[in-house]
Amino acid sequence: MGGSGRRSITDIGWEEFHALPLEEKRPYLEREGGRGEPFHTLFAQQFDRPLLERLAALANRIRFISKRKEGALALKSLLCHKRAMLYFSQPSSRTFLSHLAACQILGLTTGSVRDTSISSEFKGESKEDSIRTFSSYFDLIIMRTPEQGLAEKMSWELSNSERPVPILNAGSGKDQHPTQALLDIYTLLRSFEEKGGLHDRTVVFCGDLLRGRTVHSLSYLLTNFPRIRQVFVAPPQLQADESTFSVLRAKGVEFETSENLREAVKSADAVYMTRIQDEWDDAKGDSAKIDTSRFKFGAGELALLPEHGVIMHPLPRRDEIATCCDHDPRAMYWRQMRNGMWIRAALIAVTFGFEDQITEMPL
Ligand code: NCD
Repeated sequence: MGGSGRRSITDIGWEEFHALPLEEKRPYLEREGGRGEPFHTLFAQQFDRPLLERLAALANRIRFISKRKEGALALKSLLCHKRAMLYFSQPSSRTFLSHLAACQILGLTTGSVRDTSISSEFKGESKEDSIRTFSSYFDLIIMRTPEQGLAEKMSWELSNSERPVPILNAGSGKDQHPTQALLDIYTLLRSFEEKGGLHDRTVVFCGDLLRGRTVHSLSYLLTNFPRIRQVFVAPPQLQADESTFSVLRAKGVEFETSENLREAVKSADAVYMTRIQDEWDDAKGDSAKIDTSRFKFGAGELALLPEHGVIMHPLPRRDEIATCCDHDPRAMYWRQMRNGMWIRAALIAVTFGFEDQITEMPL
């Protein structure tokens, strides 16, 4: 894997590209002349351990450099000649703002479409045409959509147009959320940096593991690290499915399913809580019929969590983590969110080939 095998997305038809297994799509999505980093970021399958560690190191650097005024100004001048479009046709606050802040750190100017009912899509324009139009004004498109394959389709379309503009998937349907998984891995790397590193750990996922796209992307990214055991705790109706498990099996990753959060917490290095994704219910109220009372993290679970363990959540939360846990030093969710801004800045920097310039900046 990596930069060596780059194949051009302009040499492959849409149907053939779309049908490839996700890992085989990676070389087509890489930045030309790069070292395996993405041009389009669509799936967690585009990231291996060396790339994740490079991004985390770059995020740390950006974080540090931006503390000083001169450093912040130098970073802001890097991409001040680029414009980013945030196309969010699905509800979002933190992911939207986090990408916006990441753009601002690097000096990109931004525009946004959030409500397609007041865009020309309302006049009957296809999403493909709308996004293609935006690519005339912008140099990067960051998009979140309820449609599963739209970011992928647009990447192929734009790369095969006279104006190839990178696409960054900020959440595609129930499927993938690669930048959330990047910030989750960055948070885990930081959490265990001084505790022996991210290997030989148990990560417990809890909540709606079937429809939670952050879980799908993070479960994959964790397979890049040695001996990370994954435990999936959910009511049977919301348990992760074969699309997650078959990958783990193929990679020889140890995993199990459970309905007992308390038991799982006892041996957890990280507990990743998620909310019930009821916006995907076939009929309104379907999720409310499921008994989710045993899939919440409260004072009882906190008491069982090992001292070095961390509690994570992609947020927004409902009641799946009791607020009494918020001030515990193991509660990582607020820091996790802030980490997102830095790792997204790192990802945008590598997308445009600015990694070396940042690495050469004085600290
Ligand atoms: C997640 C999402 O949108 O998939 N949120 C986020 O991006 N921070 C998780 C969720 O909505 O539950």
